[in-house]
This record gives sequence, C-alpha cells and structure tokens, in this order.
Amino acid sequence: MFTSWGKTALLLGLALGSGAQDVITSDTAFYGQSPPVYPSPEGTGLGDWASAYTKAKAFVAQLSDDEKVNLTAGVSSNTGCSGFIQAIDRLGFPGICMSDAGNGLRGTDYVNGWSSGISVGASWNRELALSRATYMGQEYRKKGVNMILGPVVGPLGRVALGGRNWEGYSTDPYLSGILVSETVKGLQSQNVATSVKHYIANEQETNRNPTTDSDGNAVQSVSSNIDDKTMHELYLWPFQDAVLAGATNMMCSYQRINNSYGCQNSKTLNGLLKTELGFQGYVVTDWGAQHAGIAGANAGLDVVMPRSSTWNSNLTDAIANGTMEASRLDDMVTRLIATWYYLDQDTVFPHPGVGMPSSASSPHEAVIATSKEAKPVLLQSAIESHVLVKNTDNTLPLKSPKLISVFGYDAYAPLKYDLSNNFNFGLDRERSDLYQNGTLYVGGGSGQNSPAYIDAPIDAIKRRAYEDGSSVLWDFTSEAPTVDYTSDVCLVFINAYATEGYDREALSDTYSDAIVTNVANNCGNTIVVVHNAGVRTAEAWVDHTNVTGIIYAHLPGQDTGRALVELLYGDSNPSGRLPYTVAKRPSDYGALLEPSQPEGQYQYFPQSDFSEGVYIDYRAFDKDDDIEPQYPFGYGLSYTTFDYSDLKISKTSNASSAAYPASASILPGGNPRLFDELVTVTASVKNTGTVDGQEVAQLYIGIPNGPVRQLRGFDKVSIKAGSSASVTFSLTRRDLSTWDTNAQEWLLQRGTYNFYVGRNSRDLPLEGTLVY
Ligand code: NOJ
Repeated sequence: MFTSWGKTALLLGLALGSGAQDVITSDTAFYGQSPPVYPSPEGTGLGDWASAYTKAKAFVAQLSDDEKVNLTAGVSSNTGCSGFIQAIDRLGFPGICMSDAGNGLRGTDYVNGWSSGISVGASWNRELALSRATYMGQEYRKKGVNMILGPVVGPLGRVALGGRNWEGYSTDPYLSGILVSETVKGLQSQNVATSVKHYIANEQETNRNPTTDSDGNAVQSVSSNIDDKTMHELYLWPFQDAVLAGATNMMCSYQRINNSYGCQNSKTLNGLLKTELGFQGYVVTDWGAQHAGIAGANAGLDVVMPRSSTWNSNLTDAIANGTMEASRLDDMVTRLIATWYYLDQDTVFPHPGVGMPSSASSPHEAVIATSKEAKPVLLQSAIESHVLVKNTDNTLPLKSPKLISVFGYDAYAPLKYDLSNNFNFGLDRERSDLYQNGTLYVGGGSGQNSPAYIDAPIDAIKRRAYEDGSSVLWDFTSEAPTVDYTSDVCLVFINAYATEGYDREALSDTYSDAIVTNVANNCGNTIVVVHNAGVRTAEAWVDHTNVTGIIYAHLPGQDTGRALVELLYGDSNPSGRLPYTVAKRPSDYGALLEPSQPEGQYQYFPQSDFSEGVYIDYRAFDKDDDIEPQYPFGYGLSYTTFDYSDLKISKTSNASSAAYPASASILPGGNPRLFDELVTVTASVKNTGTVDGQEVAQLYIGIPNGPVRQLRGFDKVSIKAGSSASVTFSLTRRDLSTWDTNAQEWLLQRGTYNFYVGRNSRDLPLEGTLVY
C-alpha cells in the first residue's frame, strides 16, 4: 500500500538527482511522483444513485460508439453556455449546458450578482448558504443551465496572495466543507448539477497552465507536491463533504499534483475520488486542462471540455487496438447520463441553454431569472459578507450624522455598465491590485457576472441621507482629499482586487493606504470599508487613532451598498466573522505569502512543495513560535457582546470508540461510519449588551498529535438582548481522527483531546478535555 506518497517521492527525487544544479528535463523529471491507481472504478449506482444508474445503463445500451464518444466531449463556443454537450435527438436527449460560476450565472442578462464564496465564508451561516444556493439554483434552472461550474473549494487559500481565494469560502477545510455541502444541496434542490472545482490542490494561479518561456522552452504547469496526510486532512476534506452532500460533478484542475496533471492523475481521480469517496458522478476537465488522450480516460477523466483532437475517434481506435477497455467508455457516458437522471433533468428541466444568448446584441428572448422572492436572501448574504473588526468607542452604528464625507475610488458604481465584454461586465481582467473603476462587488475572471443592477455604497448612503435629512460630500478621485472640518464621519472606500489568471502582487497598496491616512489625518472619525478579494493587511493605518472603524466587506454582490448602510446605521447588527487570518504584516505568512515560481533545476517543471503540511493560516500562526495575528481567524465584532458558560462534552452513547471505523460498504462520501456522531458539545451563550444580535459560537479541538487547535464546530445563533441561547456542536468520527498513512484509514487518537469554545480562534473562554 502506498503511504506518504508525496514525501517519499520527494526524498527519492532529491537522492537520485543527477547533480544539484542540473536542470530537470522531460527525460529526468521524477520529483514528487504520483502513484498509479488503475483500473478506473466503474460507477455502480451506490446510495441514492441506484435508479439513475438503471436508467442510464438502459440509455447507454442504445448508443453507437460515435454517439458515446460525442457525449464525452463538449463544445464551448456559439451556444451561449460556457460548455455544451451535444444533443442526441433520436433518443430525446437535449444536451447539457454548463456555465460559470459560483457567484451568479455568467454570460447572460436578467440574473442576480450574489455574494462571492469568501462572503459566504464570512457569514459562517449554514442556513444562509443553503438558501443563497437554492435561489441561485432557481436562476440557473430558469436559464436552462444544467450544470453550474461551481462551487469552489480549491483553492482553499494556502497562498495568501492567491488570485482565486475569493471564489472559495475559507482557508479552513471544516468551514469550507460545511458551506460547500449546504451549497451543493441548495443548488441541486433546483435540479441543477454542481461541478465542484478545482479538484485538487489548485492553490496558485502562477504557472497554472503550461507555457513557453522567453527562450522558447516549454514550461509545464506547477506541481503541487503533497503528502497523503495533508491531502486528506486539508485539501480533500471539503471535496469529501461535497461528495457526501450529493455533488454530481468534479472539475479537475489545471495544475499538476505530484507531477501528474490534474485531469490525468489516476491517484486523485481513480484512487481518492472514485474509490475512497465512492463518487458516482462524472469528472470534467477545466477548460483546456486535458493534456493526454486515453491516458486521461484510463486515469478517471470522463468528459473533456472543450473537445480536442486527442480525444474524439482516438477513443474508439484505442478500444479497437486494446489500449482502452470498452467498459471505460461506457462508464464515462453512464456517469454523465446518470447525473442527468439523478437530478430529474429528463423530466423537469427547461431546454438546455434557453436563456443563454451567444452575445448581448444577438436577438434573444428576455428569460428573466431574477425574482422578488430572492431579494431578502440576496440582501442578507450581502450583509453577512461584512466583518466589523474595529469600532473604537462604539462609533458605529452611526447616530444621525449631519454631515457624512465619502472618499475613495471604491464608493461608486462604474460609469459604464453594459453587457459587453462577453457579458462579463467590465471589471477588467488585467492584472492590478486595485479595481479603480467602481466599487468591487465581485472578483475578476470566470467567477464574475452581470447582475441585474449594482447598488453602490454612495447610492445607498445618499438614499439614507435623504430620509434622515443629512448632508453628504464626496471626493472619489483625490489621494489627499480636502475634509470638511464639520464632518461627523468620514467613510473611506478602498479595495483589494484579485482575478483568475494571476496571483496578487501584494496584500496592501500604497495608493489606497495614502487615501486612508490622508483622510484620517484630517478627520477624527474615519471609518474604512475595504472590498477585499482575499486577505488585505492594514499595517499602514490600523492603529491610527482617527481610524475608528474598519470593515472588511469582502465581495457582497449587487446589494453591496444597501447592505453596508443597514450595518452602518444599525438596522442590522454585524455578524460576519473572518474566514481567514489577517496578519500584522505580510511576512507573517512566511513561505505561504507568495506563489511558487519556476526556478533552479525545476525551471521547466515548476514545483510547489506543500512541505508545511496542514499548517496553513491559523494552524501556522498557532504553531510553535505563536505569531500574533492582527485579527485572528474567526474574529468579528458586533454591536452587542456575548458571554460564554456551561461547557458540556459528552460521548454519544453506543458510539464505537474503536481506533478505526468499522468497515462498511462505501457510499458517496466514503465509509459511512466516518460520519457517525461520537461526541456532542454544548454551551450557553448570553447576549450581555443592549441590542439583539447574532453570535458565531466556535468550537476548536486539539487532537492528540495534531495542530494546537482546529475548527470542528460552529453554531450561528440569534440572541435577543439580555437573553441566552444554547449552542450545540456534533462531532463525527472523522472530526476527531487523523489520517493514518500506513493503514490508509482515519484513526481515532488515544489520549487527551482539548476542547475550546468561544468567539474566535484566539478568544476561547471555555475549555475542557475528553480522553479516548
Ligand atoms: C477556467 C476556470 O478555471 C474555471 O473555473 C471555469 O469554470 C472555466 N474556465 C470555464 O469558464
């Protein structure tokens, strides 16, 4: 049995290197190898997939070989969808429309711009994640999009400057796992398939795809070199939760994993996904991520997007010459068609792509996907995107200000908002650390969309001023604006932009810092609102005495302004919490600040060694040298205060305390015994302030032989002023275990487990222990 595959191979690679300075070429590349796992397991209809598989098998039995091959590759142009699997009219199969992305449907009109993944992470709200996904799913369905290309749990956010961290929820696998699970359930409740992406270890944009260097040499994609334990305890964890929740599709990623491309890696596809997790759906490539023909199919790839010349009839040729089993092609198609049946798309779904015009100016029907019913959920998702981290002397909520002065390039709606740029809306995709053409409500790339409207902060502030009879002044263009001496409050809007295709340059920028500092030097009550697509450090002004308020707003979607004003004026009480750690200075992220670069002997085969293991984000800050964060993971203020008491930890009666889970038939998600509840933790939380509010009670545990603390529970509760609520955390066998690389099982540790409950990862007033 293969054990710690990454590390073993790394050591082997170093020991056998052909000389320390020799450049590795395709003849000598072997660093961080991925073990072979063949053959590809057939989907059999495990769990609730049984009837879908029965129908799919009957369907596939009627197909010719050419029809089968056609179903395993799509087209990406001229359909209006990001990708399209063509119809087979004679069997009444209308095709499958797949489209981006996880923050709202891209490439069309009459849709909503939802809060981004990082904002859902900041909400720490299961129910909200579910209802957001349910309403978003309704939109996909009305538009005839069979499969949403999302949600994202890779990247997890290992690299602080990662360009796509904002598309996912959190740097913590447990929080990501719960939120992706609710998102999958919500979207699929509307019969829309989910393509959970990017599978797996897709942690940087730099060198995500093969390129050619300036001398014309081919440079392969970066390889994420990961050991088996880290893979299970960190990166696979939320994907496992997605499969458990019923996810129907996985999008394999661009980069390599232990030097094998994500879409032809038999260990991650055949091994982890289709064997260990019992995945019954199908695997689609990220767009253009196919780098092999039948080698990919044999490694577990099912559908190529878009169609390429190394696929097509080569599959049937390969079957004819014996290099590929006919049963593999049947399995690829069966998995695809089973998904279609599993979600009842054969009976209840609109025509694929009905609301997806190929361009804004092409004649098309107005298929309206927005709805009034979605509005409260849209707004609440935007509200809970915001995390209040500084509130000196309770300057917020505002108390009938007579003059509000507004500054910064991020306060207003873009001057041009039309549906050009392939309906992407003009958030330019060029590299920049700022988005200076209007408020940042979403990041850049395939995750952005064209919402029904953009309610910018200044729009909402003016509406409120009208109601209150307040005055508003603004200057969106000056780096050192003039501040009216009588201003009651100065609101400064800045952002931290990130886009697909690039990692970020820095965690802060001097232009935005200058605006904040210049305003704060002249305004005693300066509140900074940062729309941040990832971590944004604030070392230049966080301790400025005139900076009385700081809000990390993240990417709230189209209701960004309305949501902010609700919070500023106390119509809503802030309840967002940071889904990552904000460091005092960028260097505190250490080697995980920046992406890996091609260098030295690996310049043609860039390597990214995940040698930190599970120690990313707060796990790294808490480790050994204990780096003090500016704002810890899980942190966020409210307009009220909460006290904690009555910690109770109890083992579930009758639950097995055997070291390994009892063996059981694998179901989607893996061995079902991993999800048996072993421990229940309860506590009491009291709202000790004068206004109602929501608290996110957090449970961290120290597992013997693991990090000091790991999140293993959270409960978001609404509590009226002066009242108390009970919070409950249920821990499964997997929650309490570590991955045993020898046994290839989750192992319950022996010894003392430490339990901590409280407000964030560094403020945990309740402590207890449990012995196994
Ligand atoms: C590439 C991106 O990585 C992926 O997330 C997206 O779904 C596809 N392009 C299709 O647009």
